[in-house]
Amino acid sequence: MTGDEPLEEPEELRTDGGERSSSDLRSDGGAAGADDVALDPWGSSSVSDYRNLFEEFGIEEFDEILPEVPNPHYLLRRGVIFGHRDYRPVAEAMRNDEPFAALSGFMPTGDPHIGHKLVFDEIIWHQQQGADAYGLIADLEAHAARGLTWDEIDEHSRNYLLSLLALGFDPEEGDLYRQSTNREVQDLAFELGAEANFSEFEAIYGFDGETDVSHMQSVVTQMADILYPQLEEPKPTVIPVGPDQDPHVRLARDLAERMRFFKVSKAYASFELDDDERELVAAYYERLDPADFDDDALRCVHVADELERTPLEELDVSPDTLGSVVSKLSEAGKEPVRPRTRFFDRRATDDAFEALIDAIDGEKRVYESHIDAFDLDLEDAESLAKAVEVENGGYGFVPPSSIYHRFMTGLTGGKMSSSIEASHISLLDDPQEGYDKVKSATTGGRETAEKQRELGGRADECPVYELYAYLLAGDDDEFAKEVYDECVDGDRLCGGCKEQAAELMRDFLANHQEKREEVEDLLEQADIELESPRRG
Ligand code: TRP
Ligand code: SF4
Repeated sequence: MTGDEPLEEPEELRTDGGERSSSDLRSDGGAAGADDVALDPWGSSSVSDYRNLFEEFGIEEFDEILPEVPNPHYLLRRGVIFGHRDYRPVAEAMRNDEPFAALSGFMPTGDPHIGHKLVFDEIIWHQQQGADAYGLIADLEAHAARGLTWDEIDEHSRNYLLSLLALGFDPEEGDLYRQSTNREVQDLAFELGAEANFSEFEAIYGFDGETDVSHMQSVVTQMADILYPQLEEPKPTVIPVGPDQDPHVRLARDLAERMRFFKVSKAYASFELDDDERELVAAYYERLDPADFDDDALRCVHVADELERTPLEELDVSPDTLGSVVSKLSEAGKEPVRPRTRFFDRRATDDAFEALIDAIDGEKRVYESHIDAFDLDLEDAESLAKAVEVENGGYGFVPPSSIYHRFMTGLTGGKMSSSIEASHISLLDDPQEGYDKVKSATTGGRETAEKQRELGGRADECPVYELYAYLLAGDDDEFAKEVYDECVDGDRLCGGCKEQAAELMRDFLANHQEKREEVEDLLEQADIELESPRRG
């Protein structure tokens, strides 16, 4: 990929809906797809095995933190939202009534469809749980990465915004903006851009010499979008997106970290250790008894000797790590090994560095570019570093969290794609057209009614069942489960099942479109420019 190709379809629609196994699907509503893993924000990402995302990319399973989430939305309960990065601080803020934020962005490249509705619902639900909620229009990205004209962008943006409001977003409590007119976002993007370089973009996005500069600018803009909710004060922030956006989330988490004034870590002596080295020294510090050494003190050289005496097989580290740690320890010689908390000066101002020195209680030692504190635990040190940073003009960013939803399967099987009309349902589709599309959808049914009664349907492989689980059953878990159970037990036949789904879809669309009309005024009053003065 070049990272620069025009996009075929919006991210929510990309899925191969490949091989599935029934164990992937939840009888209470979730559905699963699977194949090779490629996370590319502008390519045709497909996700066939969600489990790979956990192993390969370190995305965590949402189920594990579900019990920590108050009043979970049905998309969370049903496993439609299958994964997250670092959602815990968000859940905790929610439980403790502390500030937190939710933000997502939409490229206005076409009509909003039922895939976007998942994200709209996620933002709205977080807003209802007390989040500062943000919905942004990624117009710069649509223009730079997808080549849309500003007129097209304005038209689509309006449609996204009307649907977001119609579904319940409160524009008085929350924020709406478009990238192109948000000066603060642009300024922040510029600052963040100073912490990222082209090689990184190459590695993350596959950009190359042909990638245009505006496309790159749209990336730093997205980084700024993601951190924007924290401009006034740092707070946990969740970014609900499809897993194709994970590269952006990871980069934003990295940049958030790089913008911090201080890096706080544990240390054992005056010199720096990397994570592996530190682990090794920590283990020896725990194991060795100072009483066994000459003057009842454990010194660096003692640990070095012990390490050298231990066969490499027993150490579980690379020879490089061992070599480096031994040489650092030997060089430090008689220096005692003493655990401490270290504040490393990453990009602090002189004033902030001085302020931190003053703020540290107890024994401390000040070096050229770090401070060691001996009476502070790691957690207290982290919050002290943040407080000093924020008081001294820094951002103090909390690494942003994310949640990931499953891509929907196309109604015609395979990918749901906005370029295949019959495969998806737009929120602007005429209700009757929505009805018709559902009626002609492929199903997980058997060849004959008789076989269906005997073997049961394959709800796990059925796009119609997905519609129930992701949308039509709404908050009613009982109903979703009933459809599933009846299907797999052979008590439900596809004709009637589709008729029911089609009617529900018709009602949903009619109702949604009515609400869209009702919120026209709300949109006019909202603080967002609906027409771009830009040309081209
Ligand atoms: N890149 C996203 C997309 O392709 C849109 C986007 C821009 C976004 N800024 C964002 C998404 C911030 C989440 C958060 O749709
Ligand atoms: Fe799908 Fe319904 Fe047929 Fe089951 S009965 S396979 S859920 S259409």
